[in-house]
Formats: sequence, structure tokens, C-alpha cells
Amino acid sequence: MTPELNLSRDPAHLRHGSNIGQPISRRDGVLKVTGAARYAADSNPRGLLYAVLAVSSIARGCVASLDVEAAKAHPGVVEVMTQANRPPLADDPDGKPNPFAFRFEALQNDRVRYANQPIALVIAETLEAATEGAALLAPRYEAEPARIGLDADKPYVPPVVGMGFPAESRHGDVDAALASADKTIEAVYETPPHYHNAMEPHAIVAEWQGDKLVIDTPTQGLVMMQARIAALFGIPPENILIRSPFLGGGFGGKGLMAGPQVLGILAAKLVGRPVKLVVRREQLYGPFGHRSPTRQTLRLGANAEGQLSAIHHHARVVTSSFEDFYESAAHLTHTLYASPAIATTYDAVRVDTGTPLFVRAPGIAPGSIALESAVDEMAEACGLDPLAFRVKNYAEIEPGTGKPFSSKALRECYTQGAQRFGWWERPLKPRMMRDKDGFLVGWGMGTATFHALMFAGQARAVIRRDGTGAMETGSHDMGQGAWTALAQIAADALALDIDQVAYKAGTSDLPDAGIAGGSAHTATVGTAIHNAGAAVIAKLAELATSDQRSPLFGAGNAGVIARNGRLFRRDDESRGEAYGDILARAGLAEIDASGTGAPDAAANEQYAMHSHGAVFAEVKVDPDLGQVRVSRMVGAFAAGRIINPKMVQSQLLGGMIWGVSLALHEEAITDHRTGRIMNANLGEYHVPVNADIPAMEAFTVEEHDPYVNPLGIKGVGEIGITGSAGAVANAVWHATGVRVRRFPVRISDLVRRAD
Ligand code: MOS
Repeated sequence: MTPELNLSRDPAHLRHGSNIGQPISRRDGVLKVTGAARYAADSNPRGLLYAVLAVSSIARGCVASLDVEAAKAHPGVVEVMTQANRPPLADDPDGKPNPFAFRFEALQNDRVRYANQPIALVIAETLEAATEGAALLAPRYEAEPARIGLDADKPYVPPVVGMGFPAESRHGDVDAALASADKTIEAVYETPPHYHNAMEPHAIVAEWQGDKLVIDTPTQGLVMMQARIAALFGIPPENILIRSPFLGGGFGGKGLMAGPQVLGILAAKLVGRPVKLVVRREQLYGPFGHRSPTRQTLRLGANAEGQLSAIHHHARVVTSSFEDFYESAAHLTHTLYASPAIATTYDAVRVDTGTPLFVRAPGIAPGSIALESAVDEMAEACGLDPLAFRVKNYAEIEPGTGKPFSSKALRECYTQGAQRFGWWERPLKPRMMRDKDGFLVGWGMGTATFHALMFAGQARAVIRRDGTGAMETGSHDMGQGAWTALAQIAADALALDIDQVAYKAGTSDLPDAGIAGGSAHTATVGTAIHNAGAAVIAKLAELATSDQRSPLFGAGNAGVIARNGRLFRRDDESRGEAYGDILARAGLAEIDASGTGAPDAAANEQYAMHSHGAVFAEVKVDPDLGQVRVSRMVGAFAAGRIINPKMVQSQLLGGMIWGVSLALHEEAITDHRTGRIMNANLGEYHVPVNADIPAMEAFTVEEHDPYVNPLGIKGVGEIGITGSAGAVANAVWHATGVRVRRFPVRISDLVRRAD
């Protein structure tokens, strides 16, 4: 007999759940603020040695000599690992076993492919000795000229961009539409390289126990990393335990394994002792990926009423000399605004930097500031208010695919955000507002968008005889609050109080939770947890409804509901019993079941799935000094079901802050002669600090999405960046009348020259 359960795909029973939707505080918050949370570098196994990287100061050429003897003569130095003595790898670091296995440096030869590339590793009894040893290596190079920047080499059309999007994609005839448009604009926008700059640097503590390997290292993808290391060292994945309970920020930089982590493992093998490698801040600007600079050309056409007829979004990006990764900066243009003709095209040049990779809202963040600026310019050309223009060009279906949206409450975001901000008081023309101190005041807005993705993940649910439960999944918390949000879903999935469910996560021996990236983690793992919970309760219900001694006997047709650790007959809530009683009578200590979260292929075929938002910004600009201050921001977002409003708000605000960063602060400055990053530190690579962030509000509007996944979760990790950067840039124009198209906006762009 199969009991008919009101559980699996129908979220109705969750209305009874008391955890999802609650603004509870971070469950790991106290651990973090008291210093009790252990990060990778906090691991200190017995016999630990310390490793320090020596990195290249040239960007292209080869290492001619290293004074290994001098380093080894240092009394604290145990060993120096170079290409001459590093243990062999079973897999070539320059191989490409799968599209997400990026090539890396592990001292495989003497070639230098970018500045800050590891060229040796010094292993010592103390960190100080390792640091001094590394300085004694005094490398000499045969240097070749570095190729840096968007014009460093001959451009070519990349094979694919981002996560496999075509490098040229068109619907309609953009050129014909532009030729017949009443209004056209063409503008070129540039964004610089961005680095992740997580607070916690990459670190690894590696210990070999025979042919078993134990690693403490921060990662956004435990099982993927485990598989790559297994292949590289020729050992079975189950021989590798990776512990990554806490990450001090990821931002995409910890999504994939990087070379220095492999070097840490190799070093432990070489010396036969555990080794700790904590990468120095300035050395993070190289082997761990970064965001490509972009040069984006936007051509827009509209009719006399301000209806868009054409959008051509072209992006020039860079990749490294040895790997292919292309920032998909134009891709969002197929989603956001209705236009009968849309084209996106790309070209790329190879440069002598580390390979660009996923960084906070890959593709969409830099693409958004360009598109939102261009749309603002077009609204101005049409004499329309920027919000009115966007509403006029609202995409009812996804323009690029013609698919309906699984849900899209963007109109509500526009309406509620504008009202909250007071947008409709805005004068159409720029340079019309001043505050009491004489600062120029400007208001700008941008539309936010981010795909609602899911990867594949698993979870194992357990119900125990004492009435408590457990949920196990190798999920990752890089600070976004996964420990809390996923534990809330787990509690509702098991129909228990959150404190009755042991939520176990963060190690590679747990079920594979996939990668925490693409703003997809809550959707992916949350679905797995939801399904695992439903499966274990179905098993429990089966036990009860098939047992004559149970008050639920024969309830199969009526259906069974789980609530507060009990199962009830749906048609008679007085007839039910506690989980523990069911297990006790069956003589079981516990019962378990697994669940999977994966995208619904059929639904994805039918619907376009995206989160949306509207961001409004006010800036104040000193008319004499050109200094820009953001004074106020409001973001309204539609992201499906909200698991924890408190943490969602925090994610959205964090994203909006990164948007301010993109518009006004962030820029990695590369010395074009040497290929070195000149501001490879948190002092000179500017990111917003508290003084830069004003009264900022983020809220969500109601949105029910029946198609994305059973819980209707769309993801909030990255969308806050999109829209926000453009809103700030557009506010700068509105304050000053100066359209800055090279980001970040600089004082020198805004000061009026006396001459
Ligand atoms: Mo994020 S850049 O998808 O980790």
C-alpha cells in the first residue's frame, strides 16, 4: 500500500511549518563573533610545518635561477619545493579533464605566465623562517614583454562565453532596425579587472595519513574539489577528507580548486609532515581568478514614442594565455528589455594574467552597468523619465528565447521601490537639484536581474527514536547564511522545531551539495533537503499506516500530515502519533532517506527563470572637488519564496554595496610594462567601507513561483549587484550632467577644468 501523502511536490504542508519565512538570526553568529568558528588556517595538527609561496615578479618569460641553497641554509627552513623536486602528479595541471577544471600552475615547468604565479614553496618550522627563506630565493628571470589590457593582442571571437553561451547570438535584424529607428545611441563603456578580495585569504592545511589525505581549506565546492584532487594524486576520492565548515567570503574565488592548494598538498607529501599554507594578501592577485576587464559597445534604437526597436551589445574581454574563460557581459541583454531585434557579440584578447574566472554576478555585473547606463542614455534621448522608459519597454516574455517567465514581479519592484524612494519627484533634466550645503544631488535607477539557477545536490534526512532529526549535506556557508536558511528548510521538511534537527554540513564525507555559486545553493540544496525530508516522512508514514497497532492504520487513502514531530490523519487530526512512538514500535533506532535537488528540465525548457529588482540611488557630488557620495539607496527585489527575510535582506544589501563598489570604487590597476597589479592590497584596492555606505534599504516584494522548484526559491546572492551599479552611475549623471562611461567613476571625470 502506498499512502497518499500531502508532502513531496506540494508545498501546502509547509504552511504548517514554522521555520521557513522566519527572520531568525544566524545560527553560527555567536561562534563567529566570539572567535569560536574554526577557519581552515585555524587548524594546527601535530608536527605542523609552515609553507610560504615565492611568486613571480614578471608576467611572462621563465625562471632562470633560484638560490635554493641560500634558502635551505636558513636554520628554520626544512625544504624548498621547486619544479626540480616536487612530487609527481597523476594528472597534468595543464590538462582539461572537464570544462570546469581550469588549468593551473603547480611547478610543472619553469614558464611564467603571469605576475604572482607561484615559482617555489619554502617549508619551514615557523612562518617567519618560511617567509625569510622565500626572500632568500632571489629569483632571476628571462623576461618577455607583458601583454596587458584590452588592446594587448589581436582580438578573436571566443568559442563560447560564460557557462557555455554562444559568442554571437541574434534575433531580429539589429542593423536594419537601427537604420530605421527614430532615435539611436551608441556608447562605449569600460569596466576594469576586479579581484574577489574575500576577507579570509585562501589557505590550506594538508596532512597525509598514508595514502589518505585530510585537508582544511575554504571551498565553495567540496565534492568537485575532492574529485579533482583525487585525479591529480591518483587516489580514490573517498581517501580525501576536505573540511570547510566556514569561509570568510567566497565571491566565486573559492569555487574551484586553485594551484596553491595543490602545492600545499604536494609540500605535505614532500616533507612527510602536515603543512599549512596561508596565501599572503598580495599573492591572491594572480592564481585564484579575477573578473576580466570589459569594453562594451551598446547600440540602441527606438521609435519616436520611446519603444526600443534594437539593442546591440558587444563586449570585448580578456582571457589568459593558457586558458579560456570569457566574461559573459552581454548575455543579460537577451532577458531584460523587450525589443524586436537584439544581438550580442563578443571578442577577446589573450593577456599575461592569471585566468579570469567567476566573480560576484559573473558577466551580469559588468554587463548590467553598461546596459543600464545605455538605457538611461536612451531614455534621455527620448525625453522620457528613466523608470517610465523601462516600464514602456517591459519584457512580458523573455526576448531572447520567446519563453514566458516562470514568475516576474518586476513591475511591483518598480512601483514599490519608486514609491519608497520618492522617485516621482525627480526632475527630468540633470543638474537641477542641490542640497542645503550646495552639493549637486542626482537620482538614478537601474533594473536588477539574475538567472534563477539550480545545480545538482543531495541530502540525507534522519528521524530518530527520541523524536529528533538530522539533516546531512555537504553545503557551504561562505558567509551568506546557508547554515541557517538550509537548517530552516530542514526543520520544516522534517516537521520539527529547528532546535530538534541536527544540521550537519561543510565536509566532503557528507552527501554532495554541489557548488555554492550562481546564487543557486539555497534552491539546489533546499530542494534536496525538502525531498529528503518528504522521503523519510513517507517511510515513517508507511510504517505507521501499515501497522494495525497504529492509530494511522489504513489512513493511506485519507492522507497523512506531519507536524510538530507527529503524523496525523488528514481527515481527523486527533488520530496520530509521535515519530518516536512509530519507530519504537517498529523496533528501529532511526529511519533515513535521501533526497535530490536538481533543475526541472521540462520546466526550464518551457520557462525563463530569473530574479528581478529595481534599485534607486541618490548621490551627492561636490561641484568643486568632484567627490561623489552615495547618500541614499532603495532596492526592491522579487526572488520567489523568501526563506529567511533577515538574511535575504543582508544578502541584498551586500550585493548593493558591491554595486556601489563597481560604480565608484573597485579597480585593479595593472602596470602595463611589468604586468604586475599595483594595488594588490586592501588599502589601495578600494572597496566601500562603512563611511561610503549611506542609508540603504532592501526589501522583497511578494512573488510565488510554481515552476522553479518545489519551494519556489530563486536565489538572492548576486542580484543585488546588478542594477545597483547602474543606478549609482545614472545618479552621477543626473547630479552633474556628465556621463561617465569608464568605471569606476573618478573625481577627474567630474571636476570642471578651469582652463
Ligand atoms: Mo559566485 S561568482 O557564482 O561564486
